[in-house]
Amino acid sequence: MAIQRTLILCKPDAVSRGLVGEIVRRIEVRGYLIVAMKMMQLDGERARKHYAEHDGKPFFAGLVDFITSGPLVAMCIEGEDAIAGCRQLMGATNPLQAAPGSIRADYAQTIGLNLVHGSDSYESAERELAIFFESREFVSRKHDLERWLVEKK
Ligand code: RTP
Ligand code: MG
Repeated sequence: MAIQRTLILCKPDAVSRGLVGEIVRRIEVRGYLIVAMKMMQLDGERARKHYAEHDGKPFFAGLVDFITSGPLVAMCIEGEDAIAGCRQLMGATNPLQAAPGSIRADYAQTIGLNLVHGSDSYESAERELAIFFESREFVSRKHDLERWLVEKK
């Protein structure tokens, strides 16, 4: 077990459909902590940097168009094994394969409009958080973290 930080995005479809609150609620009730959060609209350059691993794939242009199409909400989420935990909350990339009860299974229909992004590894989280946040934008939730860890013992 390790305390990790991960990048979560409520993508433009989530903002447009009014699902930001529901996504944040699911993250918070799981016990994860928000340590940075902002609404913004990505330009093409930042979007291509964020999704660089997919450059050259057939869906890349559409993915960049979609993620830049409107405002999104970016969050840094902190907690024990938060990277895998948030991926579990999100569900599989294709909503049809996502576990029932996950965000994508409950609210999304297609792989293109799947509402949320979550970093898929420690290395991705480090790289992606640096694209969205400056170090001064992170707050400390040390006391909340300690309380949760004590309560769980
Ligand atoms: P994300 O990065 O957005 O959290 O999603 P993910 O890890 O579950 O999936 P990833 O493989 O990283 O793909 C990034 C986004 O690209 C779109 N995609 N379309 N048409 C396709 O075959 C296809 N494959 C991926 C999805 O919107 C996915 O979220
Ligand atoms: Mg991904």
